[in-house]
Amino acid sequence: MLNKRVEDICNRQVEREGYSSNLYLAMASWAEVNGLAGVAQWLYVQSDEERIHMLKFIKYINERGGKAVMPAFEQPPVDFKSVQHVFEEVLKHEEFVTASINEIVALTLEEKDFNTHNFLLWFVMEQVEEEASAMKILDKLRLVGDNNLYQFDRDIMSQRAPADNNTQAAT
Ligand SMILES: [Fe+2]
Ligand SMILES: [Fe+2]
Repeated sequence: MLNKRVEDICNRQVEREGYSSNLYLAMASWAEVNGLAGVAQWLYVQSDEERIHMLKFIKYINERGGKAVMPAFEQPPVDFKSVQHVFEEVLKHEEFVTASINEIVALTLEEKDFNTHNFLLWFVMEQVEEEASAMKILDKLRLVGDNNLYQFDRDIMSQRAPADNNTQAAT
């Protein structure tokens, strides 16, 4: 059975993963209307993955005798200055999520909740990947500059593994 503090902080993470999904949807939509089909596709897949992260928390909370609560979400930004700006925001957001996961890990140690601690290890590893992939894209964008986005847009999908790896992990 989940203790109340752990349940509450896991519900906070339901909101944060769900907001991540909406944020990347907003970025995908911005990229799509700006003619960046590859960037849009990358972000749509990223959004799907974040929804799966949210589901993992929902199912875990309920499985442990807690109650997952669907939150209201803040509206994500509508406009972005550039592709570089989008990925800077992705990296910043992932760093925020990493800190959030680490806070939950710390609480599970304090509460001696080793089941939840074990559940969280997948997310600890996932955040390493999430930050690394955003940094890799930002490195590429620095090389490309503003002038050769056509090729960048075409190549970006080869930068990531297909989303269904995570889809399977969620079931
Ligand atoms: Fe996530
Ligand atoms: Fe993420």
